[in-house]
Amino acid sequence: MIYDSRIRDQILRAMGGIPLATALALSACQVGGVVDEETGETDTDTDTDSDADTDADADTDSDADTDSDADTDSDADTDADADTDADADTDPGCVQGTAPILDSAYYQNNPTLFGRFVICEPDANPRHCPDSTDVSPNELIADVVGFGDTGWMWWDAQMVCGPVTDITTDCCYLIDSTEFAIGRPYMVEGTAQVAVPDRRTGWSAPLTLERSVDAASAKQLGEAWAEIGSYEHASVASFARFVQDLMQLGAPADLVMDATRAMADEIQHARLCFGVAASFLGHEVGAGALDCADPHRSQSVEDLVLAAVREGCIGETIAAIQASEARDLTTDDAIRAALSTIAEDESRHAALAWRFVRWALQQHPELAPAIEREFASVIAEPLEETDPMAEVLHQAGLLTKADKAAVARRAFESVVRPCAQALLGARSPMASA
Ligand SMILES: [Fe+2]
Ligand SMILES: [Fe+2]
Repeated sequence: MIYDSRIRDQILRAMGGIPLATALALSACQVGGVVDEETGETDTDTDTDSDADTDADADTDSDADTDSDADTDSDADTDADADTDADADTDPGCVQGTAPILDSAYYQNNPTLFGRFVICEPDANPRHCPDSTDVSPNELIADVVGFGDTGWMWWDAQMVCGPVTDITTDCCYLIDSTEFAIGRPYMVEGTAQVAVPDRRTGWSAPLTLERSVDAASAKQLGEAWAEIGSYEHASVASFARFVQDLMQLGAPADLVMDATRAMADEIQHARLCFGVAASFLGHEVGAGALDCADPHRSQSVEDLVLAAVREGCIGETIAAIQASEARDLTTDDAIRAALSTIAEDESRHAALAWRFVRWALQQHPELAPAIEREFASVIAEPLEETDPMAEVLHQAGLLTKADKAAVARRAFESVVRPCAQALLGARSPMASA
């Protein structure tokens, strides 16, 4: 991917001090294990796995059945997606499959996760497991994993199905954790804070989309864009806090200046996203009060630097590449222009995070092992489902969950890992992966 190598080179240049030969070698390296999943290549996947819920989410009409029943008595509702073929019968229902069990031990080894996981309620009676619609995946994660100093980045878990039928000793559910925000999230104790988007004026950039879609799709696409807008809106606060962190750490003026500029970028991103949302919804959209309170936030140098690694070096790098991917898929000029702006800005924001971490590492070389661990903690589980709404989403400049997981995985391998190697040097365990 051209954009991947561009952003990688941009980050390497921004970090400076990387020998040219090393940078060129990194640029040229072919990283193994890169996922190259063409979306829509296997239609049948849709039926056998997962799609129970994706269908449910995507198709407004099938939500009810898939969510509620796909799990226990399964076949009745899975028929909804299996219409086209006989999968109702072969559909395994809600099973664990290859999904790892997400518990506190797993979390300690892999504090940054995206993909599909099984998570079990700690104290539920397995004879009477709550229906998946009565379980909040985010609350379940908070119960099971707890939130330490590291916390989840961009964690916005979605219920896939449950209870899982092949685990009978606990009440377990399949969840997806691939909802990445575009840009830097405003994290409070491990969860991304956003203001709920609503009808209000002042936040929607005036945009005119070329294509019209049916009313149900327009509502869905508008809400998806409004949600992205709310994350962009929260990124303003995230950079405001980053500016304070920089000041507290005695960072040089160029880092403070670029972080300040990033705040203005994020305001523009929010306006663009809310503008696209408004075009689909037919009314203005915006975000109101954001709960910025974070009384327990650690101010230690290590924690501030590790937050920048997670949210900036990893998060914004992946987000920039996801935005560029979405830009390349959309058929709408106005959305393409918006995503171009966002992708370009986000790549600068990512480079800023890398510059900051490099500077912090120079000031505090003792942080190297913790930074290494943070990078090494990322794993990516691919999703193989196909979203029946994929084409509509792509045209509207949105990625499916499987797209996001695939891009994140590729971005980590082709950009984050080589840049982390350049940052940390040959001694990094990242080099051996
Ligand atoms: Fe942004
Ligand atoms: Fe950003």
